[in-house]
Amino acid sequence: MKVLVVGSGGREHAIVTSISKSDKVSKIYCAPGNAGIAALAECVDIGVMDFDKLVAFAKDKAVDLVVVAPDDPLVAGAVDAFEAAGIRAFGPRANAAIIEGSKAFSKDLMKKYGIPTAAYENFTDADSALKYLETATFPIVLKADGLALGKGVLICNDLEEAKAGVKEIMLDKHFGSAGNTMVIEEFMTGREVSVLCFCDGTTIKPMTSAQDHKRAKDGDQGLNTGGMGTFSPSPFYTKEIDEYCMENIYKPTMAAMKAEGREFKGVLFCGLMMTPNGVKVLEYNARFGDPEAQVVLPRMKNDIIDVMEACIDGTLDKVDLQFEDNAAVCVVLASDGYPVSYEKGYPIHGLEKFDGKDDYFVFHAGTKFDGDQIVTNGGRVLGVTAKGKDLFEARANAYAATEWITFDNKYMRHDIGKAIDEQ
Ligand code: AMP
Ligand code: GLY
Repeated sequence: MKVLVVGSGGREHAIVTSISKSDKVSKIYCAPGNAGIAALAECVDIGVMDFDKLVAFAKDKAVDLVVVAPDDPLVAGAVDAFEAAGIRAFGPRANAAIIEGSKAFSKDLMKKYGIPTAAYENFTDADSALKYLETATFPIVLKADGLALGKGVLICNDLEEAKAGVKEIMLDKHFGSAGNTMVIEEFMTGREVSVLCFCDGTTIKPMTSAQDHKRAKDGDQGLNTGGMGTFSPSPFYTKEIDEYCMENIYKPTMAAMKAEGREFKGVLFCGLMMTPNGVKVLEYNARFGDPEAQVVLPRMKNDIIDVMEACIDGTLDKVDLQFEDNAAVCVVLASDGYPVSYEKGYPIHGLEKFDGKDDYFVFHAGTKFDGDQIVTNGGRVLGVTAKGKDLFEARANAYAATEWITFDNKYMRHDIGKAIDEQ
């Protein structure tokens, strides 16, 4: 098989790494890819939103399967575009990716089908939102409806902050048209867990759990980022909780999307909070998480191509999804200053130290070639993942491996996986 992966981050490097292990695959392309992906795939310089060029390329190379990894192209209909050209594509169509593309849609879906989530109201004008806030209890959460790079969520401690938030989202349009509609939601407390699930439209199978660290700084301080590190599994996501989620969240979501005529195929990422009143959905994403994929996929035993094809063909019920009985930790090496402003173009040293080590991975996120030298090319630069027999060993291994890499302005959190000390 010839496979084309669409995307360019650490998640895509993890996906390409899993695909490269499949006996069925003879050639991998990645558009646009990065310097690390280039070791496993032929990178092609086509942007993820350039559907015409992507489709033409896939046709020209007789690609058998396309994997669309990022949210933007999924929400904009990349899978529909490939399908219209007769090319098999893994991921939800636009009418299902809306579960991530519109928070107002996903909240209304959960309400209609009784899926546990925070109480909320949707607003399409600032005046009604401000009026509602006058009688609200604080803290309260404001969410821009559309895609906002994970940054369109504001937790407001009092009325003043909330008023400023409405202005930011709905009037000043900090997140562009993503803020045309806004969700105001009850503030919840509890541990978070990310559960990525394979879906074939009818059957849903959760992968092993993971926990992300979204804030830029140690102690969950600083701004929200795309994610600074992950561990898997979450020791707090017990078998009982998994069973509860299966019956009350995963299966009902699958059935709800089907009933709405929006069959969901691909990866449904459930962002959950384990609140004192039970598990509730914080958000859905229509794709693998980044950097969740970097700890979940290295632990998956199945051939990823088999699973992706089963999702497309509607035969996921026949797949016995299996994960290794171990743990993995990913520490993101970023450019100092991320997520605000940072310099790039610095040479990266030490990448070769990962060669030939089965339990260690260096997933490239923002890197590129400058001649023969790999240099930094983004806020999140690399994801260093290590496995271990348990979370403690995996964490020690991952932090040891972060020392193998050097580049100017290297920045990382030092407390990825700290929560496991509280088990
Ligand atoms: P989201 O993009 O909706 O997952 O929100 C980003 C982050 O904001 C989540 O990972 C939570 O840490 C936080 N958050 C979102 N919604 C709530 C809520 N209702 N209560 C408390 N924290 C929230
Ligand atoms: N790590 C969170 C996300 O991929 O949205």
